[in-house]
Amino acid sequence: MTSSVDFVPSRIKSTDPLHEPWLLTAEQREVFRERSRASRAAREAALSGRGADPIHRVNVPVLDPFDLMPALPRNGLPALSLFSGGGGLDLGFDRAGFQHAGSWEILDDAAQTLRQARPAWEVHGGADGDVRGVDWRRWRGEIGIVHGGPPCQPFSHAGKQRGATDPRDMWPEFVRAVLESMPEAFVAENVSALATARFASYVDKVITQPLSTRYTVRRIALQAYDFGVPQARRRVVFVGFKSPAAAQRWRAPAPTHRAPGTLDDGRPEAMGMRQALGLPDIGRDGVCPTIRSGLTGPRHTTSILNSVSAKRKFEDLQVWPNGVAATRQAARAFVAKNGHFRLSVPDVALLQGFPGSWEFSGAVYMRLGQIGNAVAPPVGYAVARSVAQALLR
Ligand SMILES: C[S@@+](CC[C@H](N)C(=O)[O-])C[C@H]1O[C@@H](n2cnc3c(N)ncnc32)[C@H](O)[C@@H]1O
Repeated sequence: MTSSVDFVPSRIKSTDPLHEPWLLTAEQREVFRERSRASRAAREAALSGRGADPIHRVNVPVLDPFDLMPALPRNGLPALSLFSGGGGLDLGFDRAGFQHAGSWEILDDAAQTLRQARPAWEVHGGADGDVRGVDWRRWRGEIGIVHGGPPCQPFSHAGKQRGATDPRDMWPEFVRAVLESMPEAFVAENVSALATARFASYVDKVITQPLSTRYTVRRIALQAYDFGVPQARRRVVFVGFKSPAAAQRWRAPAPTHRAPGTLDDGRPEAMGMRQALGLPDIGRDGVCPTIRSGLTGPRHTTSILNSVSAKRKFEDLQVWPNGVAATRQAARAFVAKNGHFRLSVPDVALLQGFPGSWEFSGAVYMRLGQIGNAVAPPVGYAVARSVAQALLR
């Protein structure tokens, strides 16, 4: 560090071993502390009945994400899940009929989410869930698919985009898992920034070249609202097949829905954010802006805001995306300063395509982190289904 500025560490103990703290001076930290003290005091006052009178009723969502991913019969293909997070891809593959064979996830809270949602699954969490310690050769010949979303922070526009020089870059670990276990196919997801020119040589060297020695590798970009999820969320997905015939049969998943407000083309219209959440009609609606990828930026944040344009969109749709409440009742009680509808954790989960029965573990920021990091399950489902069709035909 060549700067003469004195940065001071946060006093909050991180529960995320991968968290990269912001460098802040004592004065800057004090500004954040004061802001969070004030917001905590306001929330506590509201929850103990000393806040403003509630404006909104407790919402009853209209969207049921299970409708976007009807359960398919078991297809007999075992799936290994790496970097499982709160289980977006895992749920998509499960609904598409794959047999869950194991999940690896370094965050205890996220592993707990998976165990709670699917008690019968084999879930490796915490130190036991660190993919770096696993010898994947033990699954050779037994596995249909390896899937995972290596951490996106090294590539995300919200981060420093250090790619391979970021110690959180886990793509080499994903590649190792595939080449050691040799599944019939693999699926890997990441932020769309990974498909930009900046990372072209990284993608070629670290992902495509090593995997192409044994697999036919394809790369596609998918948009969440094309699959009925009420959110604009573009992600890049790599799909690889060991058998050239299966690779040839594979078709990228076609959009099942059209964007809200677009001309009828025979497909159902994706719901907008207000409709999906069951909010009153204000004469306009639209998809939720991209929910921020979790566990980045300020520590323990309970905001899902990702950009200035997202802020404008939320304002237009009269939804308050900061200080997300733990429950719908708590969101109603804690009236937002501008009177807009305050989101709750189950609302954010719904906007990411998770059904109400999939509950997240941990503190609110940790639950939001798992949701924001996830592949929208209906998108995972569409990919999983397309892969199964190519493998089983
Ligand atoms: C982008 S998220 C994956 C989200 C997941 N695919 C989903 O759909 O919900 C990346 C996950 O990788 C986990 N992770 C990072 N390093 C890891 C490691 N060495 N071993 C296991 N998990 C790790 C992070 O804790 C985070 O939950």
